[in-house]
Amino acid sequence: MDAVSDPTVETIELEITAALASLREAFLPRFRAAATAQALRDENAKILGKKGELTAILKLLGKAPPEGRKAIGEKVNALKQEVESGFESCLSNLRLREREAELSAPPFDLTLPARVPAQVGHKHPISIVREEVVAVFRQLGFAVFDGPEVEHEGNNFTALGFPPDHPATDMQDSFWTQSNHVLRTHTSNIQVRAMKSIAPPMAFIAPGTVYRRDDDATHSPMFHQIEAFLVDKDVTLAHLKGVLAEFAERLFGPGTPVRLRPSYFPFVEPGAEVDIGCVFCKQPNGTRAGCSLCKHTGFIEVLGCGMIHPVVFENCGIDPEVFSGFALGMGLERLAMLRYGVPNIKLMFDNDPRFLAQF
Ligand code: PHE
Repeated sequence: MDAVSDPTVETIELEITAALASLREAFLPRFRAAATAQALRDENAKILGKKGELTAILKLLGKAPPEGRKAIGEKVNALKQEVESGFESCLSNLRLREREAELSAPPFDLTLPARVPAQVGHKHPISIVREEVVAVFRQLGFAVFDGPEVEHEGNNFTALGFPPDHPATDMQDSFWTQSNHVLRTHTSNIQVRAMKSIAPPMAFIAPGTVYRRDDDATHSPMFHQIEAFLVDKDVTLAHLKGVLAEFAERLFGPGTPVRLRPSYFPFVEPGAEVDIGCVFCKQPNGTRAGCSLCKHTGFIEVLGCGMIHPVVFENCGIDPEVFSGFALGMGLERLAMLRYGVPNIKLMFDNDPRFLAQF
């Protein structure tokens, strides 16, 4: 059969040529009408996509006679390239316009509030209690004294009257560095540092992180303490008791009872543990009914204290015949657990937002 005389072949050739011509006229105005890069891509897909107009023309090509296919195919490809380069140049024009609009737009106000208000952060319970304790002592005239967490054995133990074989100095109880420094086991190292460097009178408070090889529901290998100490002439146990009574009232509320129980720390004499009226079973009339948390005594232990030992004064170059003083130290986790009724110390360190959001 003669291809040229076949009407369908001629029709297809004509059809393709007409379609190519009308597409050639239309595609650039269509691209230019697109206002955004996305609209431009959509328009491009309508032409070159799988179901696009030019793709449809390409399919018609299969029906064209083999000898005519090459010439028509070249025309189709030429238009395809025109469309592609038209698309690219329109796209870069659009980008340029977008960039210019951005540059000449009023500046973006970074201080505007978010549309959905973000959750505001807040203080950790340990920080809350630390700030309150520090505030109470500052009101009483104490100033803050800071010191290192990696400490010389002397400042942490020896100058405080710990004998070399005291269990606290043992590897089992304390963390030692390879260069024989100790992670301070209490904030009492600050007493030594202050008394070695400043002449009395002095009254300091020292909040800080301390470390011990302890790990259970009420002990953590890292925890926080606050130390307070005062050195002057004629300081007595009565001054210590007065400061403790004031501290208990200001932190736990008016009328909070305080009692001292004799106890031993190498760096004080006499030494005592301090209990305050139980915060859990306090009655409206101020009495304590007794509960499991205070083991039905009505009192809860909060800190250790005592009169600074003469040997400690001597070790720090202060004459114990002239000066006397008191010291006290408390664990912040314990205070926070009492204050908020937290049963396990681990909650303080887990950083679980469900716990932290409650303070
Ligand atoms: N440093 C003691 C401790 O960590 C507490 C304390 C401080 C006791 C000051 C007496 C005086 O247990």
